[in-house]
Amino acid sequence: MTEVLAAKSLAEGLVSAAMGRVLPPSLSRRDPVVRASEHADFQSNVALSLAGSAGTTPRALAQSLRQELDGGPLLASLSGPGFLNLTLADSALWSLLADRSADPRLGVGRPLAGVRTVVDYSGPNIAKEMHVGHLRTTVIGDSLVRVLAFLGADVVRQNHLGDWGTQFGMLIQYLDEHPEAPWRCSDPTVADAGDQVSALDGLYRVARGAFTADPGFAERARRRVVALQAGDEATLAVWRDLVAVSSEAFQLLYDRLGVQLTRADEAAESSYNPYLDEITEALVAAGIAVESDGALCVFFDDVTGPDGEPVPLIVRKDDGGFGYAATDLATLRHRVDTLKADRILYVVDARQALHFRMVFATARRAGWLPDRVEAVHVPFGTVMGPGGTPFKTRAGGTVRLSELLDAAEDGARAALAEKSHDLTGAELERVARAAGIGAVKYADLSTSRAKNYVFDIDQMVSLQGNTGVYMQYAHARVRAILRKAPEGALDRGVDTALPLHPAERALILLLDGFGAVVGEVGREWEPHRLCGYLFALAKAFTEFYGDCPVLKAPTEELRSNRLVLCRLTGDTLARGLDLLGVEAPERI
Ligand code: ARG
Repeated sequence: MTEVLAAKSLAEGLVSAAMGRVLPPSLSRRDPVVRASEHADFQSNVALSLAGSAGTTPRALAQSLRQELDGGPLLASLSGPGFLNLTLADSALWSLLADRSADPRLGVGRPLAGVRTVVDYSGPNIAKEMHVGHLRTTVIGDSLVRVLAFLGADVVRQNHLGDWGTQFGMLIQYLDEHPEAPWRCSDPTVADAGDQVSALDGLYRVARGAFTADPGFAERARRRVVALQAGDEATLAVWRDLVAVSSEAFQLLYDRLGVQLTRADEAAESSYNPYLDEITEALVAAGIAVESDGALCVFFDDVTGPDGEPVPLIVRKDDGGFGYAATDLATLRHRVDTLKADRILYVVDARQALHFRMVFATARRAGWLPDRVEAVHVPFGTVMGPGGTPFKTRAGGTVRLSELLDAAEDGARAALAEKSHDLTGAELERVARAAGIGAVKYADLSTSRAKNYVFDIDQMVSLQGNTGVYMQYAHARVRAILRKAPEGALDRGVDTALPLHPAERALILLLDGFGAVVGEVGREWEPHRLCGYLFALAKAFTEFYGDCPVLKAPTEELRSNRLVLCRLTGDTLARGLDLLGVEAPERI
């Protein structure tokens, strides 16, 4: 099925056709300047912009365009110095509704067809627990992946796991010296991979303490790093265990969150190790990286610190070790050369902005990132604790993501208990989970990406306002209406000859804007716009439902039209929530 024309495009086409009949060819192909309007469906300012060139006045030109539109599906009236207020005929809007509701894609096109897009998101660090800091990258990244894929892009997910670095020397050495340390499932206090990683996270802290306090341990830990990097089999065996357990724990969380990442998307830092020497040599040979205080650095004219001194990208440290930057350069080259990316999105904390700026600039200089490939850092703000300060437990530790999700599910259960519903047993439990997880994801996605926000469970599970639970209710309410429709009532189709109520008009026009909003999210990588749209849609539906009886509509024709309107609203809410990665249960 071809793309269903949006109302605005329809209006533009009709104004353009009228322009073709009253203006010379040199002017008639100009933009018809159709915009949304408060006074009508749309407004066109084309007469004001073209009258001068056409040798006439705006009013006269607007007048001739109005005459040309007469009798067609776009009703025009004049206002001000030469504005055209444009209103689509009722029948045209009913037909749009019919077309859109017959299309499984709800009329949304595939503007990104074939654009190979690598999305780097989540990227937790092994042997470390996922905490609230990993929520945004995971949730925003997953929503962008869904939106881009829906718009036709050929999406490659990449989970850049932090599985390499000197810290593992400490941890592995500590585990070696404390075989009794409780982190394996053979220990009764450790039940699953999640617990294992939690225990490892704790042991790492202890190991770090020992590293500072005990010079002997520090020396042994350093030797362990060398052994790990040199590929010592015994060291690698423990490291592999850490990786396997961590990745299992991450998967448990991804599944619980309904995030699409799987093991197949893992492209861990260590997988780029074999290329770091080569990357460095190429940068040195090209004169891009230079030695500075024993380290290999890339300098930039426009990157300086607060003291005015240049801030370099450190490719190789003074101890000869490679860090995060070298790995990211090798990663970028791989994504361009092997994954054949046209566009690469890095959904990573705003605090890494400078790192990415320097990595991209270095890769451009080295020729690894050609002009035709776009690399974009998609940054986001921080999740704050209740007091508006960084999120910490009372003891000052990091808050486990899994505990936050437990708390959100409890909150959703309590919120559901306050509403009358006929859910019981397993279904109630399933809905409470969907509501709790959905609330956390929706709260994250509905905040403008760049902003920090406060993690407030009570507000997230609130039934009022732009929340996940509110959206899920709105969707379930539409489904409930549809369930009550008599057999076959929806099969009559849409009668385009009926007059349109203003609330129906507003709802049809809003539904019509779905494709435009999804397209915007795919261009600007800002899922909160979709949340804002869905919220407006839910409100428009409430108004429509208050003004226009559906099941008790005065005629069967009208009932059928309104049921189609309900169904398209339900389908649009469900699809929108799906693009956000939020479940939309049929009843709640
Ligand atoms: N592991 C990193 C961190 O926790 C995030 C990785 C982001 N991706 C990348 N290609 N650098 O900060």
